[in-house]
Amino acid sequence: MLLIKTIPELRAALAGKNVAFVPTMGALHDGHIALMSAARTYADTVVASIFVNRLQFGPNEDFDRYPRSLDADCARLDAAGVSVVFAPDEAELYPEPQVYQVDPPVIANEIEGAFRPGHFRGVATVVLKLFNIVQPRVALFGKKDYQQLTILRGLAGQLALPLDIVGVDTLRADDGLALSSRNQYLSAAERAEAPQLYQALCSVRDAVFAGERDFARLEQQTAAALDARGWQTDYIALRRRADLALPQPGDEALVVLAASRLGSTRLIDNLEIRAT
Ligand code: PAJ
Repeated sequence: MLLIKTIPELRAALAGKNVAFVPTMGALHDGHIALMSAARTYADTVVASIFVNRLQFGPNEDFDRYPRSLDADCARLDAAGVSVVFAPDEAELYPEPQVYQVDPPVIANEIEGAFRPGHFRGVATVVLKLFNIVQPRVALFGKKDYQQLTILRGLAGQLALPLDIVGVDTLRADDGLALSSRNQYLSAAERAEAPQLYQALCSVRDAVFAGERDFARLEQQTAAALDARGWQTDYIALRRRADLALPQPGDEALVVLAASRLGSTRLIDNLEIRAT
């Protein structure tokens, strides 16, 4: 496995290669590794990037304390069969202020975007830049960040990028908690409570399946039930999968998305559900 830190070296190493690409911010866990395994089924050359992208963090978010563990990450990526790790310094990717940015559509200001202004603009900008550097045939993203995946699919489609976007199922701990780099911020007591977020999503799924169609009430009740346990819920949002618009009567392929805080740790999760 090659560890490459500059754009010219990366371009030279990848010339003529058929690449499957997995962008990450490092602090890798088994969920990221599942993306690497999936990537190997799409191309001989798997490229992972590790870059904590300042552009997608708000002023009060955890950019500075975001966990960084390059050596351990590289060992895991090597074991997962990754060919090349691209881990540029900030000065390599943003040698000057990144004033040309991708302006995503209104959905980027809703749901997660309503609580993280500018987040998806930062994500779309760095991902487009990474695509231009790596020039992959396929890029893989986790459904864990469902709105991110939806926005990046739209970006690739509307800008006719010459690559396929693949979504990979969320990997969970045995108790249901979605794996996340931020789980390491949880205290033991918070870690024990954390699977309740997934349980809340499952309760929404069960209610919809049982015929509940007052989605606003269901969202509200679910958030209130979490908050009564000590969570601070930003949103429980039932949307249709294709474009994350509000579901219309007859829409069957839905997704329920959630963000809630336990102490100072903000967790997000979602569950694809079917209204039939
Ligand atoms: P990061 O949070 O490091 O996640 C990298 C990829 O791993 C994303 O596609 C994310 O959805 C996926 N992932 C995280 N947890 C997962 C889990 N439990 N199961 C499956 N996949 C999971 O997402 C980002 O980085 C950044 O926004 C990035 C796209 C790299 C742009 O900076």
